[in-house]
Amino acid sequence: KQKQVTVIGSINLDMVTTSDRIPHQGETMMGTGFNTVPGGKGANQAVAAARLGADVTMIGCVGDDPFGKVLIENLQREGVLTDYVEPVTDVPSGVATILVSDGDNRIIVTPGANDYVTPTYVEKYLDVIDQSNIVVLQLEIPLKTIEYVTGYCYRHNIPVILNPAPIQEVPDDVLKQVTYVTPNETEVTSLDVGKEKLIVTEGKQGVRYFQNGKVQHVPGFNVTVEDTTGAGDTFNGALAVYLAENHSLKEAIIFANAAAALSVRKFGAQGGMPSRSEVIELMKKGGQ
Ligand code: RIB
Ligand code: NA
Repeated sequence: KQKQVTVIGSINLDMVTTSDRIPHQGETMMGTGFNTVPGGKGANQAVAAARLGADVTMIGCVGDDPFGKVLIENLQREGVLTDYVEPVTDVPSGVATILVSDGDNRIIVTPGANDYVTPTYVEKYLDVIDQSNIVVLQLEIPLKTIEYVTGYCYRHNIPVILNPAPIQEVPDDVLKQVTYVTPNETEVTSLDVGKEKLIVTEGKQGVRYFQNGKVQHVPGFNVTVEDTTGAGDTFNGALAVYLAENHSLKEAIIFANAAAALSVRKFGAQGGMPSRSEVIELMKKGGQ
């Protein structure tokens, strides 16, 4: 039976402008391209996990605008269960304004409907959480909801991965109650968390985590980078799938690291997210 991964989090429409460089303050310059693609850390992590073979349920909100419809349809096409994704009346869908240049990005997220993923909203779906092998959270929905879900999962022995992005302060109880915390090298500086829980993604440097009394390092892969947007999300989705399947932490991190490497070769947060066989193939081939 496929493992059940539940993602509680954001769903955004990404508006991506590509350019040769980032404009200076007060400067107007010409871009080289514009695209709208589905995004949002929650939705991205759900899609990553679904492509890797888990049974994925998304809990989240969209606006009652055309974007909301497109975003739900995209999740459905990817095989993510969207029965618990509701459109919120008179509220816009979450959007992210993304500037991509030189293979790196800058992002502004306007949460819109994501702010309506409240504890009361999630409370309606506790039976979904009860049936999960693992729950995945990020920080683009209200912090109160993160506190509520981590408390609930802690009391019910359900493992939780918290991807603490975008960067912000996280209450101590949350950090005590989650199973793993997966910041990137920037986000880790703002967290006071036990090192056994920490899995730090460092882009092409790979991943660092702590086990057997010392820091362990999984090197990154040498890949041609097209767009790093969503690499962290791919890592988290993949990590959730392998942990849900009871692989060791080390194996799960190696798997997630390979999945993230594959994701950056294509444009868009969800573009390039690999299938399971592609990840296994890269793991065999190496290239780190
Ligand atoms: O992690 C990448 C994501 O961050 C983008 O898809 C954007 O929507 C923001 O949420
Ligand atoms: Na990508």
